[in-house]
Amino acid sequence: MSVALIIPDRKLDGVIAALQQQLPEVAIEVWPQLQNPAAVDFAVLWKQPPGVVAALPNLKALQSFGAGVDSILSDSTLPPDLPLARIVDPHLTASMLQYLDTVLNYYRLRFDEFSANQQQQLWKPRSPRRIQQICVLGLGELGAAAAQHFAALGYQVSGWSGSQRQISGVQCFAGPNQFSAAVAQADMLICLLPLTPATENLLNKTRLAQLKPGSILVNVARGAIVDDEALLAALHSGQIAAACLDVFRTEPLPAEHPFWHTPGMLLTPHISAVTNADTAVAQIAENYRRVQAGLPMVNQVDRTRGY
Ligand code: GLV
Repeated sequence: MSVALIIPDRKLDGVIAALQQQLPEVAIEVWPQLQNPAAVDFAVLWKQPPGVVAALPNLKALQSFGAGVDSILSDSTLPPDLPLARIVDPHLTASMLQYLDTVLNYYRLRFDEFSANQQQQLWKPRSPRRIQQICVLGLGELGAAAAQHFAALGYQVSGWSGSQRQISGVQCFAGPNQFSAAVAQADMLICLLPLTPATENLLNKTRLAQLKPGSILVNVARGAIVDDEALLAALHSGQIAAACLDVFRTEPLPAEHPFWHTPGMLLTPHISAVTNADTAVAQIAENYRRVQAGLPMVNQVDRTRGY
């Protein structure tokens, strides 16, 4: 019995030490140097190369190292029946809310304009932007927290999700037919949807045209939910006044990508909610023990739904 960490391109020393402390009796293996693939019965994954999981013959369960599972499920060779859990972490939620508060105030106080003016030594005072209505796309763990947070701060908040949700203080919409009603009045649109076949390229030309003209788009979910070309066109035409993106179709964002140089774009390198190693390790260890005891894991995802 061993745990395999299949998490390329990440320094894992701290995670390994903390996990070993929680599971002293268990061997922890780190891909690609797996000593005994047949002994691995629990794998912790983040953007694993396709085929690596399928090559482990005795797995009992899979654990995402993050909140999302889209990069794990995109591996078509993933054994279909293995249960998969994700990290649900109050620190992740707090970090996301802090990011969103900062972005909201950045635009409210027009730091985007002042920063552009600074390049030309322009002194142009202006009063704050009116941002009163916020629409949150995706009302899962993070989306619901964001919607409630902004509603509690006094913003008018609408929320849109795949299936109907009820959140007090938030006007909830669901399904493709209610998309335009959900977004129509929003000064700021915050995307916190999971990436699934149903949400890939959801924010395309047609849907971006349904936003309130001059609104601001914030994407902290997954890059592939937004059609890049359509977003560039919407910014160019002024349909969208600004876009703040923390996530991209390809990460790191390729050097030649036009987003780097598009006026009205604020880019951050996928830092809005980074997995906290301590919380993640505690959940990984708990799920490992539950699997050994024949119990269902905590925060298990529905693999057919994709979240
Ligand atoms: C980050 O994007 C995560 O899914 O944890």
